[in-house]
Amino acid sequence: MHPIRKVAVIGLGYVGLPTAATFARAGLDVLGVDISEKVVRTINDGRIHIWEHDLDVLVKDMVEAGRLRAVTVPEPADAFVIAVPTPVNTDNTPNMTLVDSAVASIAPVLKRGDIVIIESTSTVGTTERAASQLAEARPDLSFPDTCPESADVLMAYCPERVLPGATLRELVDNARVLGGLDEQSSKRALELYRFFVKGEMVVASARAAEMAKLTENAFRDVNIAFANELSMICEKLDIDVWSVIRAANLHPRVNILKPGAGVGGHCIPVDPWFIINQAPDTAKIMRLARETNHAKTRLVQDKIVQACAGDRRTPIALLGLSYKPDIDDLRESPSLEILDALLADGYANILVVEPNVDELPQAYADRPIRLMDIESALHEARVMAILVGHEEFLARRDAMRSFAGTLIDPVGLTG
Ligand SMILES: NC(=O)c1ccc[n+]([C@@H]2O[C@H](COP(=O)([O-])OP(=O)(O)OC[C@H]3O[C@@H](n4cnc5c(N)ncnc54)[C@H](O)[C@@H]3O)[C@@H](O)[C@H]2O)c1
Repeated sequence: MHPIRKVAVIGLGYVGLPTAATFARAGLDVLGVDISEKVVRTINDGRIHIWEHDLDVLVKDMVEAGRLRAVTVPEPADAFVIAVPTPVNTDNTPNMTLVDSAVASIAPVLKRGDIVIIESTSTVGTTERAASQLAEARPDLSFPDTCPESADVLMAYCPERVLPGATLRELVDNARVLGGLDEQSSKRALELYRFFVKGEMVVASARAAEMAKLTENAFRDVNIAFANELSMICEKLDIDVWSVIRAANLHPRVNILKPGAGVGGHCIPVDPWFIINQAPDTAKIMRLARETNHAKTRLVQDKIVQACAGDRRTPIALLGLSYKPDIDDLRESPSLEILDALLADGYANILVVEPNVDELPQAYADRPIRLMDIESALHEARVMAILVGHEEFLARRDAMRSFAGTLIDPVGLTG
């Protein structure tokens, strides 16, 4: 088998670009592939199109050193790493079409001895399906699903679990699970990731590795749902949920997470659906967790509406638009869901405080919303909902406690 010298990374987003740059830093010749010409142009100019700590300098250095080059159409390489998005459709069914098209795009350039690795969060069986897809496109090559331990092209699944903002460090330090379709594939995938991974690498089957990634986020979702359900129960029984959690967590084997305004981000509210769709009659707790976390968002929204007592001109302040504290990422954020519902319901005086963004997303350009600082919101609002526990809000908790209007605090910031 030839040594791995050249890696092609397909999809140059939050996962793919840092991975490509990290392979380049480890000494490999890296080809970045993205369907977006703009992304390709930006990277070849030595710039980046996403924000990630220290990534700008690394990409610039690697492009200037000639170790990272971006293209729109795959070229031959020794290893192919696929990191394209895997969203869910509006009916919560997994959308694997971008993985399918990425797999199709590399078929013409594959040669004997190559390895194909899928990193995208995927439904169970995706790696096997990709092998059949490639076997159909390239009948001249054999793949490990039908020729285990003697295939021309090796195939594995190796999911990513990095924390945005700390991706470059976590890529190197995190433990990884990887699952080859056969032993040869697992060995070759280990060889590839050893170029930069210092964390432990655990080998499983491809299906187990696919399931492990989904399980991690479903586990988080279920645990947050428990906390959110507890908060709703305590409210009904007129008990302060935060003192219950503090007390219960004194038990050495109990660790209840924090309730909030729901669950957001591009992973935790999305990935459980991959499991639920593949085992709809069995994944009952996971489905209920999704529904519970969503119900918590609706409950917060209902409280805001009740506090306005039918007056749609009430100045409502929403504190925090991102999906978790102290970041600027608004994807799948419960706050945006609440904002959209209030706008759809005709609320016409919404004040947003989000210290981590300079402007509201373009979609809100002509809507009755004003982005402002916390002081102005405290002064102007009659109803205030703290949706995210940002550091800046924590620093003003005393002022919030003495807020003259109705305060809704699902994150327990003023408790
Ligand atoms: N972002 C994270 O922190 C994170 C963490 C763990 C896992 N994941 C998973 O990693 C995968 C990638 O996520 P991301 O956040 O990097 O996505 P992203 O949206 O940031 O970027 C994906 C890139 O892929 C490109 N692309 C789409 N289809 C393509 C194709 N057929 N060929 C070439 N390029 C194509 C897009 O133009 C885009 O630039 C997803 O499955 C996601 O669930 C993401």
